[in-house]
Parts: sequence; C-alpha cells; structure tokens
Amino acid sequence: MTILAPSILNADYGHLADEIQMLSESQADWIHLDVMDGIFVPNISFGIPVVETVRKLTNKFLDTHLMIQKPDKYIEAFRKAGSDSITVHIEADHDLKSTLIEIGNLGCKRGVSINPGTPIEKLYPYLEFVDMVLVMCINPGFGGQKFMPVTYDRVKQLREYLYTNGLDILIEVDGGVSTENAGKLVETGVNALVVGSFIFESENPVDTIKNLKEIAIQHAI
Ligand code: DX5
Ligand code: ZN
Repeated sequence: MTILAPSILNADYGHLADEIQMLSESQADWIHLDVMDGIFVPNISFGIPVVETVRKLTNKFLDTHLMIQKPDKYIEAFRKAGSDSITVHIEADHDLKSTLIEIGNLGCKRGVSINPGTPIEKLYPYLEFVDMVLVMCINPGFGGQKFMPVTYDRVKQLREYLYTNGLDILIEVDGGVSTENAGKLVETGVNALVVGSFIFESENPVDTIKNLKEIAIQHAI
C-alpha cells in the first residue's frame, strides 16, 4: 500500500477546521505537518499550537516534518502535541543519532529527511535508527515548487541499499508531487507521497486525493 500524506502548508488557515475535516473524511492516510523556523529554511510556518489543534480535530496519523535548526530541543513538545511521527533533517544542527533515539523512546515513528544537495550515502550510518526516510524533491521552505527529477535516482539508490541490507524502512517523498510524477515515484520504490499545493490548489481536493490514491495503487510494486 502506498501512503498518501497531504501537507496542510498551503491550506486555508482561516478555515483550518474545515480543511482538516475534509482530509479526515477523504482517502488521505496521513496528514503531513510542515514546521519551519526561519533559520533552517528561509520561511516560517507554524509550530506546536497548530499541531495540538490538528490533533484535536482528527484521528489521522500526524506526520510532523521539522525543518528547524535545533530539532532536539522540541521533540518532546511535538510528541506531546500529538505527532505520530517526527522527521528531522540530517542537515540540521544536532546529534542525529540521539535525536532519533529520543523520538523512538517517546513512542513515535522516527523519520530522517534529506535535502536534494546531500548525498544519499550520508544516511547509511543512521538507518538502523529510523523507521522512515523523507527524500526531499525540492529545496525545502515553500510549497508549490517544481519537482526535481534527480529524485528518481536518489530514491532508486536508497531503495537498492535498503533491499541489499534487509532494512524495513519506508521511503517518503516531499515537494512538487502531483499526478504527473506520483506513478513513477511509486514504481521507483516510494512508499509515502507528501502532496501539498497540488491538492489544496485543485478545484476539488477530495477528488484529487482520490485520483492520487488510485495512481498510487495502480503503480505499487
Ligand atoms: C516544503 C514542505 C513540503 C511542501 C509540499 O518545504 O516540506 O511538505 O509543503 O508542498 P508541495 O506539494 O506544494 O510542493
Ligand atoms: Zn514536508
């Protein structure tokens, strides 16, 4: 099964409860929450209170993506706010191994994310401590950016490494994902698709989610 994780980064915050209700009733599997601090990425989004609010509005799995420079300082707070998974960046300023161990100790799924400019091999020493790798298909910071095709080779390299080493870890992708590339991504070995603006800027987000889900099922390997 391929997981579909809509990102609410480009949702309508004046009607956040309605947006979450729409996602709750849709075929979306997870809700992806993009936290940005204006330091690790050149943009600020939202933080702990919004995660708490979303938690009260839905039972869906909350997939929290921390694009923040010092993630280790906030793991507990994001877990308490209701995150089911917490993903931190390999490029951030922290001891990645201990951050991942802390996430796991809090009963949370452990994710590590990697930017397009960081070689995939840098992940290898940490893979025994993670449940999921989030491969960025854009330089993080903003929704609505153009998908970088180099992602296919990066996913392929990681998928082969996981297979060769018998590692049972999900591969998630994030940035510029749409019906154009979802099928090929799934065929390349992706297990979870984050989709933001393509859903929230479409005329009928529920139908768009349905279409993406169908593509994911058709192309699953
Ligand atoms: C970007 C975020 C993404 C983004 C996805 O920094 O991590 O989750 O919101 O949005 P789209 O699908 O619009 O690229
Ligand atoms: Zn994200």
